[in-house]
Amino acid sequence: MLKLFLIYLSQADWARQIVQRWSFAKRTAARFVAGETLDEAVAVVKKLHQRGIATTLDHLGENVISKEDAFQAADEVLDIISKLKQEGVRSGISIKLSQIGLVLDREVCQNNLIRILESARENEIFIRIDMEDSSLTDATLEIFYAARKNGFENYTGIVIQSSLYRSIQDVKNLLAEQCKIRICKGAYKEHRSIAYPQKKSVDENFDRITDLLIEQSKAAGSLVSADGGFPPIPAIATHDQDRIEYALEYARKIGLDKTGLEIQMLYGIREDLQEDLVNREYPVRVYVPYGKEWYPYFVRRLAERPANLWFFLTNLVRLN
Ligand code: FDA
Repeated sequence: MLKLFLIYLSQADWARQIVQRWSFAKRTAARFVAGETLDEAVAVVKKLHQRGIATTLDHLGENVISKEDAFQAADEVLDIISKLKQEGVRSGISIKLSQIGLVLDREVCQNNLIRILESARENEIFIRIDMEDSSLTDATLEIFYAARKNGFENYTGIVIQSSLYRSIQDVKNLLAEQCKIRICKGAYKEHRSIAYPQKKSVDENFDRITDLLIEQSKAAGSLVSADGGFPPIPAIATHDQDRIEYALEYARKIGLDKTGLEIQMLYGIREDLQEDLVNREYPVRVYVPYGKEWYPYFVRRLAERPANLWFFLTNLVRLN
């Protein structure tokens, strides 16, 4: 119930208006968000690299409402690429298609994506396309497939959510084309007619999809690049230790090289586990969000774990 309310709040404009102006909320969000500027985010990325952790940068923002904003959002991704090049930093980038116009006009979105991928190819940077709520799944996949056909196969990958019934088939279709896939549980509230209502079923589906990804990685000999810039086919994105250990065990069982998969986590979550995996010589990539539009992302993180909300509220009470 609390989780559903928080997911509602993450999408409510009135709540965003209030909370984003609140300096205490901004300070608390800093636990999950690497600053408001690209410079701050790149400083965080460098520190993670020093600890042996690869990264994917995300400039926060969702659902733009004008073509100009969509163009501007794509330009900001181009700025990230230039900055990474200029600083000699090897990081991937994650983007949301709604940020570059998906909900407004597909052609605008497609053109913005092509601009991004052309620059990514020129600068040897990998672009991951995040998955948003189920109203955008078909459109996201269609644009992803179309973009790949333009010769960007090695420069982009997609995300699939184990919460959706359709995902197992989507994964099979994507793997038939050797696509790089990040599997996550899914951060959005979905109707039970299209998504597993029970956590146990979401987890079981996560493991089923993990099996397929690992088998394909082994068959294709896909490995993370030595400099951490490019991921292998499977990116296992979760903080759920059971899911991670399941993946590592299955990979071991079928003889997949340690670098034939990578574990992905969000900035500021389960840093102990990130470090443990690095010590065990598994590739770990951390998703590093930054930007002024941190509100929906921050509230989704609170929704995932009541303890985070508790931490937020007790600090607030202490402050007053
Ligand atoms: P689960 O929610 O079951 O949590 C397992 C354990 O992890 C918890 O018991 C707790 O210990 C820890 N944990 C989880 N969340 C925490 C938090 N906020 N704070 C502290 N501890 C926490 N979703 C999506 O719909 N589209 C996408 O493109 C992406 N992309 C993405 C990239 C990466 C790298 C990650 C890690 C995740 C995503 N997600 C996503 C989000 C994902 O769908 C999911 O909402 C979160 O990862 C939380 O679920 P877990 O898999 O961690 O499991």
